[in-house]
Amino acid sequence: CGIVGYIGNHDSKEVLLKGLEKLEYRGYDSAGIAVVNGKGVQVFKEKGRIADLRGIVDHNVLANTGIGHTRWATHGVPSQENAHPHQSNTGRYTLVHNGVIENYDQLKREYLQDVKLNSDTDTEIIVQLIELFSKNLSTEEAFRKTLKLLKGSYALALLDEEDKETIYVAKNKSPLLVGLGDAFNVVASDAMAMIQITDQYVELVDKEMVMVTKDQVIIKNLEGMVVERKPYTAELDASDIEKGTYPHYMLKEIDEQPLVLRKIIQKYQDENGALTIDENILTAMDEADRIYIIAAGTSYHAGLVGKQYIEKMANVPVEVHISSEFVYNTPLLSSKPLFIFISQSGETADSRAVLVSIKEMGYEALTITNVPGSTLSREADYTLLLHAGPEIAVASTKAYTAQIAVLAILAEVTAKAKGMNLDFNLVQELGIVANAMEVLCGSKEEYEEISRSFLSTTRNAFFIGRGMDYYVGLEGALKLKEISYIQAEGFAGGELKHGTIALIEEGTPIIALATQESVNLSIRGNVKEVVARGANPCIISMKGLQQEEDTFTTPEVHELLTPLVSVIPLQLISYYAALHRDCDVDKPRNLAKSVTVE
Ligand code: G6P
Repeated sequence: CGIVGYIGNHDSKEVLLKGLEKLEYRGYDSAGIAVVNGKGVQVFKEKGRIADLRGIVDHNVLANTGIGHTRWATHGVPSQENAHPHQSNTGRYTLVHNGVIENYDQLKREYLQDVKLNSDTDTEIIVQLIELFSKNLSTEEAFRKTLKLLKGSYALALLDEEDKETIYVAKNKSPLLVGLGDAFNVVASDAMAMIQITDQYVELVDKEMVMVTKDQVIIKNLEGMVVERKPYTAELDASDIEKGTYPHYMLKEIDEQPLVLRKIIQKYQDENGALTIDENILTAMDEADRIYIIAAGTSYHAGLVGKQYIEKMANVPVEVHISSEFVYNTPLLSSKPLFIFISQSGETADSRAVLVSIKEMGYEALTITNVPGSTLSREADYTLLLHAGPEIAVASTKAYTAQIAVLAILAEVTAKAKGMNLDFNLVQELGIVANAMEVLCGSKEEYEEISRSFLSTTRNAFFIGRGMDYYVGLEGALKLKEISYIQAEGFAGGELKHGTIALIEEGTPIIALATQESVNLSIRGNVKEVVARGANPCIISMKGLQQEEDTFTTPEVHELLTPLVSVIPLQLISYYAALHRDCDVDKPRNLAKSVTVE
């Protein structure tokens, strides 16, 4: 799920291992590095964590050139054999690969009938093809010929034992950057991996190849023509990606939410304090007869809230779709659709597949993302940034609230541009939310206590809510299952009784959200139904709506903005549940932060 490379005057091992550690947040289940020196190429790979890989690396080997990889299993189980790098039969070529080659079976049949293959991976096919073609071609030409044959997604870094001065690099659909240094250059899936040693990066475009030496970066297209591209400065503060005094990134990121919200307000204000958005986006919003929000995971949950904002404030109909479904099961589209992609990373392959297909149909797209210059941002017509700072914990927290805040701003500014009058001042209301978030983040002991008594031994848990509380319940359930592995599901309050209530036993935890005045009585009725069957309720209400039986009451905020507040107890409850159950909070099993395969 991540690639690094280094070529320079220093020993590459430590740079590669440190770089891979910085990519750990993306999720992986095995890792490896390959380094090349006068004695040839040496490969070290291991199942598990980078710490395990460190344990098997021979620290006496010194080499100025190397590549590294973290793998999140797609084809084949996580194991030492399936870990990258992979080598060609003679050992001349060594390759790391992120992505999925769709036509690898066909390539195998067509070109590699007579070649002994050591694994069933798509990656091995690439490296064996390069070796095969190198019989009559230079490495550069053999690499190019191979790239022309590949269908699917890839980010690649290749070492040639016969040329220790070059790393060959290419990408298609998967992210990859080249970083520039003084007498060294690096390769990285994202700038975070190498920000400690350089902030100068060159973006790579799909279907290009790059020859990286310690003082040169030569980009060519697949016809062999040189392409010129200027580097950009990655605006990442190296300290943003440190945990500081926090035990986990997730806790740090939960605590950052009030700050992020205030930053968003400020970034989207004009000099008179009014909220503002690029005119072109407003024109696209104004011309659209229907908006299609496309997202995955937590971002999809933010999209559900965003639909309410755009419909209620700006009066434009909105559909929200899971990206992996949309691409194969496209709904009937309206005559003037506008697509909004929501993605923390801006790299999710499922969402990108939809973007590619709707661009082919000639439609416009806006991406709401945390990562400037990410694929979904570059390929859409417009971008709105989240300004949340790097989110490292796999379970998304501050990006979710940032997405909701930016969607609220988009809805408000669109409504105003359409001449509609809202009966509240969004800047003021978001300010109240930021204060409420601070209050909630300040009472962590209460959440720690409730998760200890409520969730430390349970098998399952259900979240219920109505209206917007339902959407927050979906997000609460996702947080809990992602990091604590408790089987958790979110339901619309009225729906639980149509089936799932059969699972309620003595003591089953039910987390109910009661922050919406219009449905307060009905959700409380649903709580009674489950309590009557033995459930153990935890009720989260809002000031003004509270009742004696409630477990927590959040400060009062505008009814439309409650998701920004009610999600914080849910994030904290999940965090402590994971801690009490001894789970790896920041790097939950099987999950990746940025899923760059479809
Ligand atoms: C992965 C992550 C989730 C995230 C989802 C969408 O599954 O583990 O936390 O919500 O991808 O990611 P995106 O970067 O597109 O928001």
